[in-house]
Formats: sequence, structure tokens, C-alpha cells
Amino acid sequence: QVIEAEGMMVLPGFIDSHVHFRDPGGTHKEDFLSGTRAALAGGVTTILDMPNTQPPTDSRAHLQEKMALVAPKAVVDYGFYFGATDNNIEEAASVADQVAAMKLYMGSSTGSLLVTEFSPIFRHFSTFPLDKPIAVHAEDEQSLLYFGAQGSTEHNRARPPLSAQIALSRALAIAEKVGRRLHIAHTTTQRELELIQEAKQKGVRVTCEVTPLHLFLTEADQQRLGNFGKVNPPLRSKSDQEALWRYFDVIDTIGTDHAPHTKEEKMQPYQKAPSGMTGVQTMLPLLFNAAQEGRIALNEIIKRCVTNPARIFGLQDKGALEVGKDADIVLIDPQQLYEISNEQVLSKCGWTPFAGTKIKGKIQRVFVRGQLAFEHDICLARPGSGRPVRYTSR
Ligand code: DOR
Ligand code: ZN
Ligand code: ZN
Repeated sequence: QVIEAEGMMVLPGFIDSHVHFRDPGGTHKEDFLSGTRAALAGGVTTILDMPNTQPPTDSRAHLQEKMALVAPKAVVDYGFYFGATDNNIEEAASVADQVAAMKLYMGSSTGSLLVTEFSPIFRHFSTFPLDKPIAVHAEDEQSLLYFGAQGSTEHNRARPPLSAQIALSRALAIAEKVGRRLHIAHTTTQRELELIQEAKQKGVRVTCEVTPLHLFLTEADQQRLGNFGKVNPPLRSKSDQEALWRYFDVIDTIGTDHAPHTKEEKMQPYQKAPSGMTGVQTMLPLLFNAAQEGRIALNEIIKRCVTNPARIFGLQDKGALEVGKDADIVLIDPQQLYEISNEQVLSKCGWTPFAGTKIKGKIQRVFVRGQLAFEHDICLARPGSGRPVRYTSR
């Protein structure tokens, strides 16, 4: 097969290892078809879906139901996280080979998944296969309650950096003790990256993620965006944001934490408005644009959005444009200018915090496993053409 690509840059399809596609139970916000279409439009050809759906992906039966439900909808390849609860320790370990990782919420967010006590955390950490990552949402529930995260109208003050440090320190200590792989979702502060760097130097098997939200937005944007900028963990100070770029070497993956909520839900009074923003469609454009501006080398982006996620989550056929791997390919016109707008958003919720941002570099065509799936703003892929990823055995 010959692909005409004159004037185009050729990138491997991105892997978004952190999305919330709301299927089942929240399909008014997103379903697997709308979510994977948004991914495709953003040059993301593989996604890993989080377990805080309704019902949560917290048992073998719920996982199988989800797999059957989404298979006829997906237009990109996909895998799942298994959600930790206080009681599903053995069950989680028994389905580990069917998922990319476990997700353990140490602090509460959208949905009901939460594990705060030492004992179940320790048992999950020591029982789930040590070579499969446990991804943690590292915010400490007790300190969130103490600082009034529930009732406060000041989101950032109520979810202080300290809460993330406390949870992170506990997770690192237990991971070190039991020798397990640990993946820290959405790091947002300099202190977290210092702690992770120190742990890596000691040989702790830890990797970590940042989101484009925290790389490109700060608490000043939250002021501007109001509830639309509300997210857990919150947008941070300018100095923490700058630290994420300064500590880029410590960061292993960039995942979007794509967490759609409808405009109506976001326009409720502050306390009631849910946390989260869309992101799966804008990650590649924002990062490519940052490379065009000379902020970061393109190969450093590919490492964190393709190579590293494939390795960390054991995605057998993904991770590189080379013989033997899936031909997931993005053609991008590096010169074309455009502005991100809500109208372009394919997520059901129809908005993005990046509306108005000017981008240099427009995605022209996307191939999934060699098949043309997206061309000139049109999704060509048939629902159900996306496939479950295969995991390397560990
Ligand atoms: O802001 C967030 N929204 N943080 C999370 O951890 C969950 C997510 C969601 O699912 O809405
Ligand atoms: Zn989270
Ligand atoms: Zn998340």
C-alpha cells in the first residue's frame, strides 16, 4: 500500500492511556462511539478507559459486560483499567491479564470508587501482579475532608498540593516495600515530581503521568473558565505548571484525563458541578504546536504519548512505526493554521477548555492498523472497527 503524503509529517498514532468514556452509565456525557471518534479526530488510535463508569469496572462480570457493550461502537483500539475497591482484591488479581492496569482512587472524585484505608491498599499492592501497573489517583481522602473539599467554593484551596503529596508518599512507600510497579496519574506539582524522581533514583518501580490540562492551563485559567475549569486534581499555580516543563525528564506518559461533563452539568452551582474536562481530541494538536514553538522536541512527545505508554501498559502491537507493529499512522500538515473551537469537538458534551487556542499543524489523515479511518475532518471508520488491545504476558 502506498500512501501519498507530500508535505505531510508522519507520526505514529498516539496512545491516550487515561480517558473516561462514560460507557456504561453516563452515556449522555459520552459513549464509546463518540469518545473514540473524538480520539480518532485527535490522532489518538489507542485509548485506555478508566473504571469509574456506572456500574464501575470493579468485577469480572462488570468488565465482561463493558467489553461486550463497547465492542460494536469503538473506532480506535482500546483497553481497560480495573477499579480497586475495599473488597475485590483477589478478583482484581484474577482478571489482571485482561486489563492494562488497576486504577486505585486514594481520594474521591467522579463516581464511587475509593480505597482510603491502609489495609486494602497494602493488600491490592501486594496481590495484584507486581509487573502490571497500579495507577493511583493520588489525593489523600482524609486531608480532602479536613480541608473541606466537599463544601468549599474554592476548589484549589480545598484540594491542596499537600493532599497529593500525602497520598503519593504512602503509595511510593508501599510500592517500594512490596516491589511493585506503580503509575502516578496526573501529577500536578513540583513536589510530586521531586518525590517521584527521588524514588526512581532509589530503584522504586514508579512511572508517572501529566495531563495537557496541567501542562497548558493554570489556576488563572480556572478563574476564567469557572466550573468548566474544575478538575481533580485542580489546575495549579504558574510556578507548579512551569515545574512540569522543567521536570519533563521525570515524566513518563502524557494522558489526557478526558473527563466529559455536559454544559448543563457544569453550569450548576459550584458545589454541585462535576469535575473534569475533555482532552482526547486536543492533546496531539497542543503538543505538536508546542513542538512547533520550540518548547519541546517532537521525539520527546512521541516517547510520552506512544513508546512509553505501550511499554508501561504492555500493549503488544503498539508503540512504534516499525515492521511487526500495527500501522497506526497520523499524517499532519505542519504548516496549516487553525483555531480550536467548541464546534470541532466530537465529544458528546461539545466543549473544550482550549477553545480559542491557535494551533500550527492540522491532522489530515489517520490510519488504524493500516486502514484509512479519518480524513479531512470526516470519520470514515465503521463503529466496531476498533479492537481490544493485546497485552504482553508478564
Ligand atoms: O476531574 C476529574 N474527573 N478527576 C477524576 O479523577 C475523575 C474525572 C471524571 O471521571 O469525571
Ligand atoms: Zn484521577
Ligand atoms: Zn481520570
